[in-house]
Amino acid sequence: MIFYNIDKNHLWHPYTQHKTAEPPICIVRGKGALLWDKDGKEYIDAIASWWVNPFGHANEYLAEKIHEQLITLEHVLFGGFTHTPAIKLAKKLLPLLPDNQQRLFFSDNGSTAVEVAIKMAFQYHLNKGQKRTVLIAFEDAFHGDTFGAMAVSGIGLFTQAFEERLIEVVRIPIPKKGMEKECIEKLTEILNSKDVAAFIFEPLVQGAAGMQMYAPEALDKLIALCKSRQVLTIADEVMTGFGKTGKNFACDYLAEQPDMMCLSKALTGGTIPMSITTTSENIFEAFYDDDINKALFHGHSFTANPTGCAAALASIELLLSIPMQQNIARINTCHQTFKQIHDNHSKISEIRILGVIMAVELKTEGENSYYGELRNNLYQFFIDNGIILRPVGNIVYVLPPYVITNKSLQKIYDTILLAIEKFV
Ligand SMILES: Cc1ncc(COP(=O)(O)O)c(C=O)c1O
Repeated sequence: MIFYNIDKNHLWHPYTQHKTAEPPICIVRGKGALLWDKDGKEYIDAIASWWVNPFGHANEYLAEKIHEQLITLEHVLFGGFTHTPAIKLAKKLLPLLPDNQQRLFFSDNGSTAVEVAIKMAFQYHLNKGQKRTVLIAFEDAFHGDTFGAMAVSGIGLFTQAFEERLIEVVRIPIPKKGMEKECIEKLTEILNSKDVAAFIFEPLVQGAAGMQMYAPEALDKLIALCKSRQVLTIADEVMTGFGKTGKNFACDYLAEQPDMMCLSKALTGGTIPMSITTTSENIFEAFYDDDINKALFHGHSFTANPTGCAAALASIELLLSIPMQQNIARINTCHQTFKQIHDNHSKISEIRILGVIMAVELKTEGENSYYGELRNNLYQFFIDNGIILRPVGNIVYVLPPYVITNKSLQKIYDTILLAIEKFV
């Protein structure tokens, strides 16, 4: 008890109103898609712990590789030094990315990967003698919680306290079916009237907005339009990367290639916090100069931490393994079967699927705020039933670890249907 009072009295949890929130659940152990709390209650981690953990909790292969690295070289500064885990990781990762991606810049989390991309975009133009100060982003985007990432994020709840202090961003709607024309027109209008440095987007799926999905053909058109005006394009694959969409990267569905990509979360399989901003050689060349002022003055103490690199290397090996690829396909098949059966459910307005991601949008009256009553009731019902799901308003989404069993998946589906009967 004293132990848990320390949490109550001294810890500050993310996205939490401590005055009204239930006490946090103390998790003591995990295996695969399962977690256990201090009282032995079992939970299915149906959202892979904020999408970071596709290969399952307490993964022994990752632990082994991390341990090996820890007792060889746990850390060394990356300014003026390099190491084999970073080099091996580059060799392994680059062939998986769109082939224009040729440089890796390391940082610590999804937000910093975005922050780095934004800084690169502004300085790229500056180094080329152009002052471009505006960014374009999608409505309802989420790119993280640091200042640059907040500026390009469009979900008010996360940014409203800081609105007046953010860099200038102009928003366009996502090109959902029926919205493509409006989206292109809005983009054209902005490109005609503003000095735009870059367009940042979550490719094909907007995660935090409730797994909103749109077609690759529509994104291709937006990227092509930006390219025709020398506006850089940044694909934020922090959520979508490493198999979530059914391909290694959402960008694999595109004909166009972005100038930069942001990778994190599943990059290290939920073990060591790390992220990478990848760029084309064209971006790098704008910084390559005799003039020190043209260098990118950005870095972190943990930049390219060797243990993180070893974890990423091992994670990619797992991702590419045949069993893991089969798991991704298996989960998609289960989701598709669920959709076939329940697509016309009287209380479901839409079921969206891409890869292992499935969003079930519920038919409700009126507004459904992000952390509103319906969401809170659903969340608590799932927890009571031993399932970790974090609905977004009236959208319940599933994004499980790839190693989840069919039995656990079935329990998730059944519990979602029960919740719909009870609360909708
Ligand atoms: C698309 C996207 N970009 C960036 C981030 C921020 O990542 P992090 O929470 O690691 O800072 C998130 C987090 O959910 C995300 O979904």
